[in-house]
Amino acid sequence: MTSNAPIGVFDSGLGGLSVVRELRRQMPDERVVYFGDSANAPYGVKSSEEVRRLSFDIVDRFVTMGAKAIVIACNTASSAAGKQLRATYDLPIVGMEPALKPACDRGEGKPQHVIVAATALTLRERKFGELMDRFDATNVIYRQPCPDLVEIVEHGKLGERDLVMRALHGYFDEYDLATIDSVVLGCTHFVFYRDYFRQLLPGSTAIIDGNAGTIRHLRDLLAGHDALAPAGSEGGVELHNSDPSRAMADLATQLLNG
Ligand code: DGL
Repeated sequence: MTSNAPIGVFDSGLGGLSVVRELRRQMPDERVVYFGDSANAPYGVKSSEEVRRLSFDIVDRFVTMGAKAIVIACNTASSAAGKQLRATYDLPIVGMEPALKPACDRGEGKPQHVIVAATALTLRERKFGELMDRFDATNVIYRQPCPDLVEIVEHGKLGERDLVMRALHGYFDEYDLATIDSVVLGCTHFVFYRDYFRQLLPGSTAIIDGNAGTIRHLRDLLAGHDALAPAGSEGGVELHNSDPSRAMADLATQLLNG
């Protein structure tokens, strides 16, 4: 069996479009409805309760639209609301978490020095604490919030190199980067900065994000539910945003098409 229903993907704003890009690459037959909550961004400095409330509102919309699955393309909303959403709705819900496991696994037994860049809320939620518990006895893990990196994307300033590099230096100059094995991009907004991180970091430091793994998981889950789109279907992306301005719509289209 197959399903032509759309997949609902959401984020606090535009960061989740980095996940949609990967979805389009791996699953071009699928229809996607994307909701960016830019009017309420950033989520990373809000309380867990507030992020949970906003996330439930968005998933309600997707259910009304007949979505066959949900992707929480936001590490912050996944930590604050993923478990509760899964317990409430009877459809596949894929969440995200900072890709700390692949970063630590790279060491093949050798302790790794890893910086996890994420939002303040992701880093203080219990979900991340549990992830840390699995890896920090045998690795050295630093937690680095980077709130300006969310704002720069939301304000359409990702192309302003000096501004971006100043922000990155502000967050990362305190580390001896030559000793860092990898930096985990634990916020979907940060994935858009990959080339800038490459300029900042030594060639020996890996840059790791969870987007490809998240979409592989989505594909497996849909396959298990017999709910993949029929091969050769015309996939596509419909963009929605809680900020109804033309400028936001243009920015979203631009980030999606990269
Ligand atoms: N893109 C989001 C994440 O992956 C959160 C950004 C924010 O709104 O603070 O965590």
